[in-house]
Amino acid sequence: MSSEFRLSMHGQWSGRLAFILAATGSAVGLGNIWKFPYITGDNGGGAFVIVYLICILLIGIPVMMAEILLGRKGGLSPINTMAMLAREENRHWLWRGLGWMGAIAGLLILSYYSVIAGWAMAYTVRMASGVFVGATADGATSIFVALTSDPERLLAWHTLFMLITMMVVSRGVQHGLEKAVRFLMPLLLIMLLILVGYATTTGAFTEGLNYLFYPDFSKLSSDSVLVAMGHAFFTLSLGMGAIMAYGAYLPKNISIAKTTFMIAGADTLVALFAGLAIFPIVFAHQMAPAAGPGLIFKTLPIAFGQMDYGILFGTLFFVLIVFAAWTSAISLIEPMVAWLVENKNLSRIKASVYIGMLTWFIGIGSVLSFNVWEKATWSIPGLFQSINFFDTLDALTANILLPLGGLFIAVFVGHLMSRRKVLEELDTQALLFKIWYALIRYVSPLLIIIVFLKAIKFI
Ligand code: PFF
Repeated sequence: MSSEFRLSMHGQWSGRLAFILAATGSAVGLGNIWKFPYITGDNGGGAFVIVYLICILLIGIPVMMAEILLGRKGGLSPINTMAMLAREENRHWLWRGLGWMGAIAGLLILSYYSVIAGWAMAYTVRMASGVFVGATADGATSIFVALTSDPERLLAWHTLFMLITMMVVSRGVQHGLEKAVRFLMPLLLIMLLILVGYATTTGAFTEGLNYLFYPDFSKLSSDSVLVAMGHAFFTLSLGMGAIMAYGAYLPKNISIAKTTFMIAGADTLVALFAGLAIFPIVFAHQMAPAAGPGLIFKTLPIAFGQMDYGILFGTLFFVLIVFAAWTSAISLIEPMVAWLVENKNLSRIKASVYIGMLTWFIGIGSVLSFNVWEKATWSIPGLFQSINFFDTLDALTANILLPLGGLFIAVFVGHLMSRRKVLEELDTQALLFKIWYALIRYVSPLLIIIVFLKAIKFI
């Protein structure tokens, strides 16, 4: 397919900054502010954080470079990019399955992501109405329970979030997205800093700091290592083609390596700030770090309820979370939508509506997982302990499908593509290239395999 044709079909980023903003918009989302703190709490703190940071460095960053490289080389939706590159390299046609696996993972993730983003929307309204002024831990918890135990309310918010996601995707990811991310991301960082500032006044800041950074490896199970690795993929939007799809719209003269460092750096910073803001509140109010998915919704309102201008800051903060979730959600369905546009000759609008409706429908399962289906659990002995629909989707996508996608990406770029072609795309310093190539060929894939084998207790 000629590059002119590609351009007319999907468009291109206006430059490096636009790509960085969009990819950062994809990376920074609920994963950083909602998920990172609660899984850190579930997995005992510092040791988990260290493993997560190691995974970002040794797996996440190399895989992100590989994924952008594939996307730019192919220039199409991930499914067609993989099909085309496999053909070019004389590899089996099944490699396109990697694109399919990613596109499906994206829909599954978005189906529950949208439900949680709906909570954040609901909280925007609650914050603005002032219900949290002077809230205690018990008060904040009961407001959270009142929301999540009402399936109709959750469904309404989930529907609204899916609608706004479909709206943007149907117009094409480049329009509007750049502008939104450009000033909302810095604002989010400033809000987080204000929260960290508040956390220093709670009297439990050092306790929070210790919890987050002091590693106690006795608390770390092989499952925790799998969760930490899965989260490195989730938080950087890797292993499912989101970054590959965005890479397809990246002009040729832009350095993939530099861009990757900026995105991964910003993403990690936001997650750590979120942790620094939340755990001091947890300890100051004798709450449990392992409060599960409700953690930020039970803790942050207490902070906003007590600080000066709390209503204003709190409302703004939840609006920013919704925006962060929105810019991630868009990238979650882009691979599937781009494929429908290419292969089924659908307009972007139709493709977005069909995929959006399907995702919305799957999301109903997660809406019910916090109330009527909460106790509808199942187990795979030794692997999953009594998990419900929402937990299952989360574990299946973040802990299995994304790392598996990353493993295949590493193998394809590291072993099946010719070194010359890889070098062409990645014209970075010789030493940096050598380090990256060793990581993507050996270190990242081996680490992923070892963590998988450990998780199923094979080694
Ligand atoms: N990175 C997003 C977050 O941290 O919230 C979630 C996400 C987006 C995961 C896109 C995967 C993806 F492809």
